[in-house]
Parts: sequence; C-alpha cells; structure tokens
Amino acid sequence: MSTSDIPSNRPGSGTDMWGGRFSGGPSAVLQAINASVDIDQRLAEQDIDGSLAHAAMLAACGIISSQDARDISAGLEAIRTDIRAGKFSWSAALEDVHMNVEAALKERIGAPAGRLHTARSRNDQVATDFRLWLRETCARMEDGLRAYQRALVAQAEAHADWVMPGFTHLQTAQPVSLGHHLLCWVEAAERDIGRFEDCRKRLNESPLGAAALAGTAFPIDREMTAKALGFDRPMANSLDAVSSRDFALEALSAATIAAVNLSRFAEEIVLWTSRRFGFAKLTDAFSTGSSIMPQKRNPDAAELVRAKPGRISGALQGLIIVCKGLPLAYSKDLQEDKALVFTAFDDLELAIAAMAGMAADLSFNRKAMEEAAGEAYSDATDLADYVVRELGLPFRDAHHIAGSVVKAAEARGVTLSQLPLEVFQSVEPRIDETVFTVLTARASMESRTSYGGTAPVRVREQCALWRERLAQE
Ligand code: ARG
Repeated sequence: MSTSDIPSNRPGSGTDMWGGRFSGGPSAVLQAINASVDIDQRLAEQDIDGSLAHAAMLAACGIISSQDARDISAGLEAIRTDIRAGKFSWSAALEDVHMNVEAALKERIGAPAGRLHTARSRNDQVATDFRLWLRETCARMEDGLRAYQRALVAQAEAHADWVMPGFTHLQTAQPVSLGHHLLCWVEAAERDIGRFEDCRKRLNESPLGAAALAGTAFPIDREMTAKALGFDRPMANSLDAVSSRDFALEALSAATIAAVNLSRFAEEIVLWTSRRFGFAKLTDAFSTGSSIMPQKRNPDAAELVRAKPGRISGALQGLIIVCKGLPLAYSKDLQEDKALVFTAFDDLELAIAAMAGMAADLSFNRKAMEEAAGEAYSDATDLADYVVRELGLPFRDAHHIAGSVVKAAEARGVTLSQLPLEVFQSVEPRIDETVFTVLTARASMESRTSYGGTAPVRVREQCALWRERLAQE
C-alpha cells in the first residue's frame, strides 16, 4: 500500500486504541511501516478463538460480568461470520488484525468491547494467535505428506520388481528395484512428518495471560484459557511467552528440510522424464508445453518444487536475522515474522501437493530402465562377490580380478555377460560358466536380500509395512 492511502490521525484509527497521551497523529509513513493488517488478517480465526477463550475466562474469574462476556462472544462470532463471508472491511489505519477486530467489536456491541482487553496485551495475543496458526498448519503439512507417501507406496508396490540403475555420483552403480527407489522418499517424508509433529509438541503452550511482558495483577486463570485453546499448559515465564519465536524458527527449519527432500525427488522426475533418460512420463495433467517449440513437454511443476528450498530457506534465514540479538521482551521487529512464515508454508503446501500429484501421475518405461540398469558394468560388484563366494578369495583380491575382467570387456566393447568364458579364465582360471548366472541386472537386484536391501522380496515386505502404517493414520 502506498503511504497516501492512509489517512493520518482520523477518528477510528489506531490512535483511538492507545491515543490517551497523544495529541498529534502518526505521520503517513509511520502508519505505512507500522501497519501489518494486510498480512496478519490471516490470523483472524485464531484471534477470535483466543478472544473468546479470554472473555469466558474473565467472566469465570469475576473480572468482567457474565452479561459482558456474552455480548463479547456474540459480537466476535458475528465478526467471524462477516470475515468468512468477505464482508469485513479491514483498515490499515487500525494497524493489525487485533485492533481491527476489537474496533469492529466496539462498533457492534459498544462499551463492553472495551473490557475484552483487560489482563492481556497484543503481545501475548499475537504470540497466542501465531502458535495456534502454526499448530494447525504443521498438522496440515503432515496430512499432505501422508498423501504423498500413499501415492509413493502404491507406485512402489506396482513396481517392486522393476529393475533400474542405481546411481552414485550420478554414475551407474548397481541395479536397484524401482519400488525400492520410491520407498526411499517415503522414508524421508516420514522424518519430515516427525519434525512437524515435534514442532507441534513444543509450540503447544499458551502465552495468553502473559500480558505485555510481566503478567497481570488481575486474578486470571491461565490454565483455563490454555485448556480452552487446546494448549498443553500455560507458558511458565511471561517474558518468554511474549518474546520467543523459536517455535516459528523450528517450524521453518522443518519446512526447509522437507522442501529439500521434495526437491531431490523433483530433480529425479526432471531427469527421468528427459529424453536422455526416458525412464518416466508425466501425463498432460503435469506437463506444460512451450510457446515456441511445439514438440516440448516440460516438467514445470517438478522444476518449481526443485526451486522451492530457495524461497523457504530464505524465509528461515530472514527470520533468524530478525530474531538475532533481540533483547527481552517484545520488540516490534517481531511483527516481521508472519509474512515470512506464511509465504514459506504456502510454498511448502503447494510443493507437497504437486509432489503427491506427480508421484501418482508418473508412468515408467520398463524396458528403458532395465536396459540402462545393465549398462556401464553395473554387475561388476556381482562378479567380485561371486569370486569371493565361489572361490573363497578376499574381497580386495576379488575386486582386482573383477576390475581386470571389466577392462578386458571394455577393450572389446562388450558387456560382462557377452564376454567369452576364456577371458574370465585368463584372469582367474577357476571361474567357470556358473559366473553367467550372476551377470544380469535382474539377478543382481534379486540377490541383494539383506535387510533394507533392494531385492523385491524385501521391497514387498516394506511396502506391506508402509501400507499397514499408513492405513492407521
Ligand atoms: N502487530 C503486532 C505484531 O505482529 C502485534 C503486537 C503489537 N504489540 C505492540 N506492543 N505494539 O507483532
């Protein structure tokens, strides 16, 4: 908003709320830099919930009359209805969501509205609203990640015995099961969910009643408001309650890590759907065209998910710097927390939904994957393992033998399985024709039956465990 949009010191402006000792009004530029309502109106629902709990508690403790509490509640519910219907007119002159709601309450019910702010401050109010918002938002991220996991598990089950190349350094390494590869991202998402659950546990304490910074002389019941709002307990230190934002830093850290994990699979989707790989296809639902090249099918959503950690980690970094070095207790710097957190979680929510959508949408090219899995001597480790197992040689010696065989195959431009037995025997005479049974990508994949390994039997076990686990959620 431009500063000229804001009328200075008009009746019904912020100065109405605290202007007792002021005679001049704020300059237009002060109003412009101070107002946060464009951003924090997203906390309206939480703000009303907090005020309802506070008013009920004030009445229960005999601080305001029951009649006033009833009027306040009815007024707040009517305001909620207006806001939901888009009929509420937000005023930048009233600074923030808290003062907008309170001013509207005064307009609606008159004098009793002025009693709502007894024994509280916007400092404990905003901290309460923000914790409620993040609690709900973290839970929504967890739900989104569960949907993503379900899509991945369904694909993993359908492709438990499809062979693809496994990579290290993006160089073909050893054959793996496509299902195994996909379950890797299910594991990562599980840790992301765990981080959001941890955030919710730690942030679920109520700042309400800490008032400006020191608590209050009114005989309030903080247990009562904490319980009404679903918090585990009231925060034990009023200074901490109004000044800490590490709960938001923690949520942004979890968001950043989740975004990084998503970006890694997103990058694989970009690679796999490229012509060079040709491993996978996205349908039209997740492909975009080019305005100049008619043949193009671009994986834009995957690329954008790949980019999201830039924005989300930027928000984390931004809030870290806002909070760094702030003395106790509340400082207005803290108003800058919300824009960063809101955009970060908007980004993450979209990224999760896009990845869940693409995970379900992908179809795979069995032949291309299996062919690629057999390329680049991906069975060289299997040859070395064979020499250890069948001839009893130490692995280091076997590694050397297999290396020499690969060198001979490379010189002839053939795969290990295309190499005549005599060549194997010229390197190690005791190798016999049974060696060829281990020299296929499929045999290689199927042989890796160790716990956590890529053999389809193990992958199917994991799929079943995940299916059971996700059904319980
Ligand atoms: N809009 C403010 C914020 O987001 C609310 C708290 C204002 N407190 C104050 N003492 N001015 O932080």
